[in-house]
Amino acid sequence: MIFKGSHILSTDQFERADVERIFEVAAEMRPYAQRKRITRVLSGAILGNMFFEPSTRTRISFGCAFNLLGGEVRETTEVKASSLAKGESLHDTARVLSGYSDIIVMRHPEVGSVAEFAEASRVPVINGGDGPNEHPSQALLDLYTVKQEMSARGRDIDGLRIALIGDLKNGRAVHSLCKLLGLFSGVQFKLVSPPQLEAPMAIVSELLGKGHKVEVCHELEEGIHHVDILYVTRTQEERFESQEEADQYRGLFRVNQSIYTEHCEPNTVIMHPLPRDSRSAAKELDDDLNQNPNLAIFRQTDNGVLVRMALFALILDVAEEVHNHAQPVTWYTAKRKPNLP
Ligand code: CP
Repeated sequence: MIFKGSHILSTDQFERADVERIFEVAAEMRPYAQRKRITRVLSGAILGNMFFEPSTRTRISFGCAFNLLGGEVRETTEVKASSLAKGESLHDTARVLSGYSDIIVMRHPEVGSVAEFAEASRVPVINGGDGPNEHPSQALLDLYTVKQEMSARGRDIDGLRIALIGDLKNGRAVHSLCKLLGLFSGVQFKLVSPPQLEAPMAIVSELLGKGHKVEVCHELEEGIHHVDILYVTRTQEERFESQEEADQYRGLFRVNQSIYTEHCEPNTVIMHPLPRDSRSAAKELDDDLNQNPNLAIFRQTDNGVLVRMALFALILDVAEEVHNHAQPVTWYTAKRKPNLP
């Protein structure tokens, strides 16, 4: 694909070579993300960071990524703090905000809302999550993490064995990640969920059509044997008609250290798009795994900054210019412990 000036709305847009290009640029962003160097390549540019649903890491990491490239960030954090609450349409909102920004990231609860917004926008728009549909930048950072974790084990993404666990019906990160993994070859998927929360048939059919192996499981223990990656997700309670309906699924599948030790191969990587639901009745990914060196969840969040910097650099066509604007860091920088074992 041509990145310059493009919207990023769905992982369907990408070919394997596009993903590899994003990862190549993401790797070059590491010294800036780690505060070893600064760059002002986007000095003067403005990101409109429009989040009409709750978010911690997507909103903040997109904002940090833009700041780390030297740009400024303006943001809205909920519908009621914007004029959408007064009945303004997405069309009008897009026409207005695209006059104030060079690029926009948007999250919204409705499927297709970001695409509708992008249609009216005069600047590129990145989908930060549209309801239960897609979350492309999350899938890119997840796949970047998969690549790194597998590489540390002398393996590649081709031939990966992955169990995706939890609410696979409503989990937009799962939908986008499955589509990206579909670009590689010989991936073995185990889709582990309650029967009512299975992954959409369209995604399963697409993976089968590309020659991947897909096994649907309704039991956690059966699903987590013989895989390289556990990708655990929370029940997306905000997508259910009622809290009572969501409550039926709370705590059904819980991965903890004893389940991991008993059923997983040694060194199985543990991932989660986060937030994990740490309330006692849920705990789909128990905090007794926090000292497990194979827990990659905070390596994922660190990688989110790199991948989002890469998207901005490619879309705004400065990927080749970043290092020309580099300077040393002059302030005290904390020696952050790496999110490694
Ligand atoms: N993974 C993710 O989208 O997290 P936030 O909802 O905190 O942005």
